[in-house]
Amino acid sequence: MIRHLRTIVDLSRAEIEALLELARLIKRLGLPESYARVTRGKTLGMLFQKPSTRTRVSFEVGMVQLGGSAIFLTEDSLQLKRGETIADTAAVLSRYLDLIVLRTRDHGFLVTFAEHASIPVINGLTDQYHPCQILSDLLTIQEKFGGLRGIKLTYLGDGNNIAHSWLLGAAQLGLRLTVASPAGYEPEASIVAQALELARETKAQIEITHDPIAAVQDADILYTDVWVSMGMEETRQGGCSAFHPYQINGALLARTGKPTKVMHCLPAHRGEEITDDVLDSSASIVFDQAENRLHLQKALVTQMLVWAAERA
Ligand code: CP
Ligand code: NVA
Repeated sequence: MIRHLRTIVDLSRAEIEALLELARLIKRLGLPESYARVTRGKTLGMLFQKPSTRTRVSFEVGMVQLGGSAIFLTEDSLQLKRGETIADTAAVLSRYLDLIVLRTRDHGFLVTFAEHASIPVINGLTDQYHPCQILSDLLTIQEKFGGLRGIKLTYLGDGNNIAHSWLLGAAQLGLRLTVASPAGYEPEASIVAQALELARETKAQIEITHDPIAAVQDADILYTDVWVSMGMEETRQGGCSAFHPYQINGALLARTGKPTKVMHCLPAHRGEEITDDVLDSSASIVFDQAENRLHLQKALVTQMLVWAAERA
């Protein structure tokens, strides 16, 4: 069966740990020749329905550094716009490309595409998930804390794609995660249930709360994201006042009671979910996070090409 990355649980805990190790190796020493033989000359397609700075550029640069190339595709420039089906598009693109990253409005689009693709499909963000972000963040946490075990991460704000991928990632790896969101903006109940079910096996400690002050107690990491995600601009208008108590500012950061790092997937809306003084402080590791997208995704592309080659 062809391997895809639709959500983070498409990878086992051991596979995630191996991926992080490969990313560390690639970051330190570059790609070993044994892997370069697999990545050289390969073409990554990138079909994006939403804007992107980090995901687009890190995948494109990463492919060049792996000895391959990337083709950026927008929905409007393809026959999808004129009604060609997702299934036919996936089948045709699979004949030209070696793997593909999708950024879609609807997660169902990506799932359908993957069903009909004969090449690996990587989720580069959907309305529900953003696994590449969380995998890269795990690399950043390992670097800053020397490991993942016992670290308490508190996510504050919207129960969105980032929160969902954190829930599944923490559950899969047996980590400590607290998600604090305003009432009405919690992560989706079915995804919380999936994470709690997984956590029973992995001994992950997952907590969902409405209380930002209690949530940040003893946190090693405070993590946030925009209050209005891409595609929600219309429906969220005027709905942001509920989020103010969840803003990462100096006062909330001081409530952790310990030296705490601050993370944000970016782009940030400065002055909303996070204040300038915190984002630009020495506690902030957001630009290291952004850089690690490149290293982790190079490892991911390499691993997916290795799996595809083993299958062929
Ligand atoms: N964090 C992230 O995915 O950023 P972009 O939307 O710029 O790709
Ligand atoms: N939740 C944000 C993440 C951007 C990387 C969004 O979907 O817009």
